[in-house]
Parts: sequence; C-alpha cells; structure tokens
Amino acid sequence: MNAINIAVAGLGTVGRETVRLLRARRAELKERLGAELRLVAVADRAAEREARALGLPASVVRYRDPLDMVRRAEADLFVELLGGLETPKRFALAALGRGKALVTANKRLLAHAWPALTHAARAGGARLAFEGSVAGGIPVLRALELSFSGDRVLGLDGILNGTTNYILSRGEEGATPEQALAEAQTLGFAEKDPRLDLSGRDSAQKLSVLAGLVTGGWLRPGAFPVAGIESVTARDLSFARERLGMAVRLVASLRFSGKPAAPAVAAAVAPTLLPLGHPLAAVRRQYNALLVHTASAGDLMFYGQGAGAGPTASAVLADVFVLARDIQGGLPGAAAASRRLRLTSPDHAVSSYYLRIEVLDRPGALARIADALANAGVSISAIHQDPASGRRSVPVMIITHPAERGRFERARKRILSLSSVKPAHCAMRMMA
Ligand code: HSE
Repeated sequence: MNAINIAVAGLGTVGRETVRLLRARRAELKERLGAELRLVAVADRAAEREARALGLPASVVRYRDPLDMVRRAEADLFVELLGGLETPKRFALAALGRGKALVTANKRLLAHAWPALTHAARAGGARLAFEGSVAGGIPVLRALELSFSGDRVLGLDGILNGTTNYILSRGEEGATPEQALAEAQTLGFAEKDPRLDLSGRDSAQKLSVLAGLVTGGWLRPGAFPVAGIESVTARDLSFARERLGMAVRLVASLRFSGKPAAPAVAAAVAPTLLPLGHPLAAVRRQYNALLVHTASAGDLMFYGQGAGAGPTASAVLADVFVLARDIQGGLPGAAAASRRLRLTSPDHAVSSYYLRIEVLDRPGALARIADALANAGVSISAIHQDPASGRRSVPVMIITHPAERGRFERARKRILSLSSVKPAHCAMRMMA
C-alpha cells in the first residue's frame, strides 16, 4: 500500500496538534513507514474554519458531523479526539464495526465502554490503540501491552492526574489549592469540570484502562474505592514533610493476584503518604509517573508529562504509526536502514564541568590555571581550595559555566601541563 488514509474527528487542542504534526512530519513518517500517512478527512463542529486555520488542502474532506464522517470517509484508520462519551462511543463502534483501525485518547470512553469496544474490535477484526488516554506522552501502555509479554505484571502505583499533583506539589511550595488550581487551569491540563480531577475520578478512569490493558478484563470505574485530595490541607502537607519526612501524592494502585488467566485485582485511588526518598515523591507539578512491579524485571518507573497538546498528540501519532504499520503488513521503510549515521563533533557538546586538580602552593599557580581557562574561552562559575600548608599539593575544585567540550578539553590539557599542577585529576561534566 502506498498510502494509509487517515480521518481525524475532533479539532480541539489535541486534534489540531495531531493534524499539524501529521502534516509537518509527513516526509519522515513516510520514510520510516514506507507508505504515506495521508489525511483524507476531518470532522468538527467548526471543521471549515479549523481546516482553513490549519492550512489543509481542499482534498481533505470537511465534515461537521463525526458520525457522518465515520460512515462515509474513505479512510483506513480513524482517530477519535472528540471528548465526551456518547458521540465518541457511537463513532468508535461504527469505525470498528467497519473493520477500520481506531486510535483514541478518550479515557472516559475506554473506562466506561471497555466491553463494547473490545468486543467490536474483535468482531470487526479491527485494531484499537489508545496510548494517549493514560499518562499522555509517556509510552506506558505499549510497554504494559507488549514489553512485559514474557513477564508478569504484579501491580502498579501511578500518579495519573497532573492537576492534583500540581496542587499537592505547589502546596509544598506554599501555594494555596485555589491558586494552584487556577495555575493548572491556565496551563491547560485541568478538566473542564475540575471536580473530576480533585475527586480522583479522572485517575480512576485511567486506572480502569490500565487494568484492562494488563488483564484484558473490565475494571468498572465505580467498582473500587476512589478518594481525592479535597480534604488535604496545607497543614497536612507541612506536617507530613517536616515531622514525618514524607510527601503526599494522589496514588492510583493495582495489585493482581491469583492465576494469570483469571486474576483478581485490588484497585484504589487515594491520597497517600510517601517517604521523601520514594520515586513517586519526587514527581512534581503536572508530571505523571507509573511504577510498575513485575515478577522478573522487578520495578520499573515511567515518568513524563501526562497531559497537554504536545505530549498527547505525540502518543496519538505513535498509535497512528503503529496501526498503519500493521495495515501495511509490518514492513518498515527500508531507506533509513541503509543510511550511515552522521556524527556531530563531540567537541560542540555544551555543559558545565567539574575539575579537581592537585596544585602546588606557589605564587601565581592559580593565576596560570585561571589564564588557561580564560584563553580557551571557559568561564569559571566557582572555585574552591582548602587552606594550603607548605610544599604539599592541595586539591582545587573548579566549576565552570556551560562551555563547549572542545574548549574545556583544551583548557584541561593546558592546566595539566603546568609545572605547579600534578597529573592526577578528575574531570566530570555536570547536568542541570
Ligand atoms: N485533567 C487531566 C490531568 C488531563 O490533570 O492530568 C489529562 O488526562
């Protein structure tokens, strides 16, 4: 197949970004896939206006009604980014019923209609992918679906809601819940009705999707305990941190037991105290994370942005690519494989550096070291030397401002050639 035809329903923030990236990355996607990903139709209440704003050619058919598009468009793959429940459900069942591949990022749809969707996909022989529905840009669903195929997922603990995590971690910095929620709304990751976030229901829908992916079965969102962060106050946060050495996070958990073919599951969403050294305690602001416990690989941590146009569109496009590759017959593009990689010069890599040298306590020794750095164009950010005594050498620690590796290396060589500097030294790059 030379082209895979794609139709996108819903041109909100994620839909627009998906369409924009699909077009902007057309050439590289084509090379990697070995076939063109061709946008043939879009559906939105304001399809005409949005299509014009996106600069779509006239060949892309505009539909005002997504259900009209899903019945009529000549597409191999449909993308559902509508939001809500009833129309997306009808859209998804219609696409799968036609045997078409479907990509969605709609956690509510998946959590509430899991049996109907998986049944329709099986009956229609159609593929369904939903990487963007949980933890946005973190590629955790595909890992749960495929990467642990030879392993057993024993359970998981996740921070799956950016808004509540933003409120809790901004609270640790002194912001009130109201201030933090307003910031989350401005940044665009809070739900239209933020009670969905605050009450833990958003996390519960995502937990349901994760359970479905691991077991194949349906974990109904109302069937397990869900608590939010409404009752957590600034006082709780500071007592936890200062007196207990712990942080509060809204954690969604699953534990599987029994036979893998018929597992039992314990599920919960709850505000949870975590030791400050726990990996989930280090997750701050709108970031999401998922700690997966497996039988053979042990614990694995996935971390990244769980919401927003860029991260979610990235996950949606990954789904589009993978399903298109399946349609294509699993044959990746050959062009890239034969291309030799071009290396950029490591000398241009920029970072700050730590340099420890052993220096003889002589007049002018430090001046010559500073000179060597200055001549190479490397600026010193900090320098430390213990009090020196007599003829023995003293360690001098130098921290540089960000500098090109080539320049730093030139300075290092020059410094080590000085008669007042001993050869034993330690140089390390620093990461921000
Ligand atoms: N309201 C959600 C959040 C958006 O805050 O994480 C992504 O599902």
